[in-house]
Amino acid sequence: MRIIIEPDPEQAARRAARMVALRVRNGPALVLALPTGNTPLPMYAELVRQQRERGLDFSRVAVFGLDEYVGIAPDDPRSLRACLWRHFLAQVNVQPDRCQGLDGSARDLEGECAAYEARIVAAGGLDLVVLGIGVDGHIGFNEPGSSLGSRTRIKTLTAETARANAGGFADPAQVPRLALTIGVGTILDARRCLLLATGSAKAAIIQRAVEGPVSAQITASALQLHPDARVVLDEAAAARLERADYYRETEALQSALPGSD
Ligand code: GLP
Repeated sequence: MRIIIEPDPEQAARRAARMVALRVRNGPALVLALPTGNTPLPMYAELVRQQRERGLDFSRVAVFGLDEYVGIAPDDPRSLRACLWRHFLAQVNVQPDRCQGLDGSARDLEGECAAYEARIVAAGGLDLVVLGIGVDGHIGFNEPGSSLGSRTRIKTLTAETARANAGGFADPAQVPRLALTIGVGTILDARRCLLLATGSAKAAIIQRAVEGPVSAQITASALQLHPDARVVLDEAAAARLERADYYRETEALQSALPGSD
């Protein structure tokens, strides 16, 4: 795990955006999985800026959404797919037919999940999964107790996660308690993972996910098993890390090596 600590949320977002942009430049046919939530919004804004001002080309990039609410149709403005389009995809030159999301309104939800896994495989597998983290340590919607080998499937959201996601809904009671999410195993199969977390509300769970034991109770901790996982934090989210000074030293020394990105 490579832990990168930036002074503030804006610089953390820019750092994460630089990592994504570099991968897009190096392999324009990149297969990306992308999150929703508030944390990645400044990262998306920076990627949009890079496309407009520096011609960062997304035309051959394939995008998979990480998760979706059950019972919400893809074209519903409350869907996570619509949210990703609004905040990012609609503003860059992605090809709509290369962007996929789970359909939470599918009649056969298990079939929908299996087909999504097959589409990821058909795309050549995920090159880069960008992740946020919930306060209970979930990645995607892989709530505590999710198997670390899980694939795309139906999950029940905790009451806490439903509350945290109430923003997109007129009435918090409307937040679906069921969701579809790519699995922890699906994420671990990606060639690279990048988790972005900012703000003091994430400090305690980041410490447990990064420095605690690998556990299905904190699915972000599974990233410790991944050979190429990067965690980009601001100072507030890094505040509880016990080895923060070591991570800073490591980053200063290793990022100066030739070819380091
Ligand atoms: C939701 C999403 C996650 C996201 C998390 C954190 O549960 N399914 O992908 O990482 O929220 O959201 P935020 O970044 O708003 O804290």
